[in-house]
Amino acid sequence: MCFWEVVGQWCLELAGTALNSFCPVETLLLTKFGGKRRSRRWRTGGGLIYASWGRFLGFCRRFRTLGVKVFEKGQARPIFPRKLPHILVTDVAGEVVEVGEGVKNFKVGDKVVAMLSYGNGGGLGEFAAANAEMVVARPSEVSAAEGAGLPVAALSAHWALTKDAEIKLDGTGKQKNILITGASGNVGLYAIQLAKLENAHVIATCGARNIELVRSLGVNEVLDYKTPEGEAVKSPSGRKYDFVIHSASQAIPWSVFEPNLSTNGKVIDLTLGPSSLFTFVLKKLTFSKKTLVPLIISLKGENLDCLVKLVKEGKLKTVIDSSFPLSKAEDAWAKRLDGNNTGKIIVEH
Ligand SMILES: NC(=O)c1ccc[n+]([C@@H]2O[C@H](COP(=O)([O-])OP(=O)(O)OC[C@H]3O[C@@H](n4cnc5c(N)ncnc54)[C@H](OP(=O)(O)O)[C@@H]3O)[C@@H](O)[C@H]2O)c1
Repeated sequence: MCFWEVVGQWCLELAGTALNSFCPVETLLLTKFGGKRRSRRWRTGGGLIYASWGRFLGFCRRFRTLGVKVFEKGQARPIFPRKLPHILVTDVAGEVVEVGEGVKNFKVGDKVVAMLSYGNGGGLGEFAAANAEMVVARPSEVSAAEGAGLPVAALSAHWALTKDAEIKLDGTGKQKNILITGASGNVGLYAIQLAKLENAHVIATCGARNIELVRSLGVNEVLDYKTPEGEAVKSPSGRKYDFVIHSASQAIPWSVFEPNLSTNGKVIDLTLGPSSLFTFVLKKLTFSKKTLVPLIISLKGENLDCLVKLVKEGKLKTVIDSSFPLSKAEDAWAKRLDGNNTGKIIVEH
């Protein structure tokens, strides 16, 4: 960022603070790690509303989805959240109310899907400012709720499959055996559908209550992860996995995956714990044919656009668990933390 950009950013934040002190907006704030949240009308600066800085695009959200538990516990600070109080949630869809000077692709009134920055969040409020690079148009065939479900989860599934597992999404690739762990989770539900676009043979693990849902999305084999076969992630038909998308909320040791992998099998690990980083390095150093790669996602607007188009074409759907009004955002957040949801929790206003 050059000097004038930094000065411009300060001006924006000062303007935002001044404006917001006249017009407080409704938000859900994380005020302390470990459970202190406040749902209130809050006067805030930091570009929360009506940003007019060139690279940003301000918009009113009508729907947003709820994000990850690491925010609540502060496990990833100071990267995210950068500072407290923090307005939670990054995945939103809504309508543009103002565009910055440098924004060419959008105009007031456009319907959009956007991903806000991990560090700043800002989703659980009446307005937000998004970087235009992570904003895409939302066609009328895609509801705001379906669109708001996409950003983090579907982008993660898309990146894991297309970049790390070389899936093409058009059915032209060689058939692969793919294991998806945590298949009933936010990432897993999108990963199943994207893998089936390549006509992959998909084996899924999930809890017993979600087996029918996972089957309905087209998986070929399902394992209840609480059974001995599920714990051992063994394919009922005896197949070895070319790729594993490890998107369960709990880590699974390499020793469990290893005997089930094909000769060049690869585990794409979304859980990013110390043991997965250790395994990644060890497999590199020993030139192992069976490998593990931690998922390091590069967020791209073009990938979000691709996902919105797949929803429009009826090839991908957002599974929705429940909807809450913004005034009940705290209940929605608590539900997400309890982990009782299957599919996206939507907050709307
Ligand atoms: N690296 C990245 O960029 C990135 C991006 C997004 C997400 N993630 C990570 O990816 C993982 C999934 O995220 P998410 O949002 O999809 O989580 P989620 O919605 O909480 O889903 C996790 C799923 O894992 C299942 N599960 C729990 N233990 C399991 C086990 N031992 N075997 C198989 N399934 C198990 C749960 O099933 P039940 O509900 O039936 O118990 C749940 O459906 C998380 O670890 C998250 O931190 C990483």
